[in-house]
Amino acid sequence: MKTIFSKNIESDLTSCISKIAADKVFILTNDNTQLHCLPKIKSIVENGRADIITIPSGDDNKNLTSLAQVWEYLSKNHASRKSLLINIGGGMITDLGGFAASTFKRGIRYINIPTTLLSVVDAATGGKTGINFCGLKNEIGVINPAEFVLISVDFFETLDENNLLSGFAEMIKHALISNDENWKNILRFDLESFNLNELKPLLKDSLQIKEDIVSKDPKEENLRKALNFGHTFGHAFESL
Ligand code: GLY
Repeated sequence: MKTIFSKNIESDLTSCISKIAADKVFILTNDNTQLHCLPKIKSIVENGRADIITIPSGDDNKNLTSLAQVWEYLSKNHASRKSLLINIGGGMITDLGGFAASTFKRGIRYINIPTTLLSVVDAATGGKTGINFCGLKNEIGVINPAEFVLISVDFFETLDENNLLSGFAEMIKHALISNDENWKNILRFDLESFNLNELKPLLKDSLQIKEDIVSKDPKEENLRKALNFGHTFGHAFESL
């Protein structure tokens, strides 16, 4: 998996697509990201280089029905083992799309373009994929990293305050389990102004903390469990 901090999402995505050399390219969106995020990669869409799959938004739809919709679209539109799926959205899309790609024809390659702060620091990196099942969060899934994760803070411009804060909470958590310097830096960030340029270096640190942990324990047998703190309670609470 390669993480790219992008200054120009269209050209970086174009170069990732050409490195993968897929026979067909599919883009997974939901109602929101189709409207707000897809226009940022419009040259790829308008050139007819990719087919768009749109599923309903919201964690309630991170389920078997939406997953089957993705599998069905890929199958009916002749996706092969050499095809590529690009997931553009928050954690719901990167989780479900990653799982759809990991299981379709026993696994096709995929790229994540996380569009929320939370999905950048949590769902889109580290290879966890899956869906909710039987009322339980992330009950079915596999660990299989994306080929590339493309990150652009431009997507955060349309996020509301709650969305930004929930992502920042995850960054605070990463800083807490790393070292004094990261902790001091994160405390200096002004949440009132939420300046995206000032966020960038902190975001890089946060991802580095996660990547260091994931590289030592990719299958979450030991050390990686530290990244779940807060999640375990949160997921149990949401399931309830
Ligand atoms: N969401 C925590 C992890 O990726 O391990």
